[in-house]
Amino acid sequence: MTLLHDAELSAAFDHAALAYDRLVGVNPGYHAHLRRSARRLRLPRGGAGLRLLDLGCGTGASTAALLTAAPHAEIVAVDASAGMLERAVTKPWPDGVSFVHASVERLAEAGVTGPFDAVFAAYLFRNVTDPDRTLALVRSLLAPGGRIGVHEYALGGRAVDRAVWTAVCRGVVLPAGRLAGDAGLYRHLWRSVVEFDTAPAFAERLRRAGFAEVRVLPMPGWQTGIAHTFLGRRGSR
Ligand SMILES: C[S@@+](CC[C@H](N)C(=O)[O-])C[C@H]1O[C@@H](n2cnc3c(N)ncnc32)[C@H](O)[C@@H]1O
Repeated sequence: MTLLHDAELSAAFDHAALAYDRLVGVNPGYHAHLRRSARRLRLPRGGAGLRLLDLGCGTGASTAALLTAAPHAEIVAVDASAGMLERAVTKPWPDGVSFVHASVERLAEAGVTGPFDAVFAAYLFRNVTDPDRTLALVRSLLAPGGRIGVHEYALGGRAVDRAVWTAVCRGVVLPAGRLAGDAGLYRHLWRSVVEFDTAPAFAERLRRAGFAEVRVLPMPGWQTGIAHTFLGRRGSR
């Protein structure tokens, strides 16, 4: 199948926004895993004095996770889907959190400029048309020494990881997506993971983009070998 991209993908997320929180709410560990990845950024002082970017914030689940790890930070949360953002902004947020409607490709036009002390991107990179260009952009938005945290379904590379992912999609994700009226988006979720980088390949992509201290950390539970946290730093230049 052809994967969804750009305007087509945003339209699919706009449509899926209403049911999104309900669907991810029944995914065991969804919110806990986001919080785990956000914590792994090891942001100092509860984020006091830090400026953070949540790229592809959706309905705000990753923003909430970032806020748990850094309750005192300023957080700019960006998403290309107006429908997903509409759900995000109805939730209660402290003053330091703001939401911007923009695609990662058009951040500057939307007035989102660096430097940021950290960029968090949860379930975004599989969806962008040009992951290398997006990584270069993230790097340019980071202050020297700034951190990147990517939370992503990137398979571990063993045949069993791919088999478990496909079984979960066939048994749960695709039927749930059909019931919610979002069959296309959830088929995209399945295929985009199968066709995206494995975890070692994405780590290598981060290194190629100029990130230092790249590390890949696993998730517990059924997502072992399926979802990972990727960490890296912009060097001092
Ligand atoms: C699977 S959702 C994840 C949302 C949130 N980060 C979370 O963890 O629940 C992916 C989000 O990325 C957004 N997205 C995809 N491509 C994008 C792009 N090029 N620019 C900005 N946002 C994008 C989608 O609109 C969607 O809301």
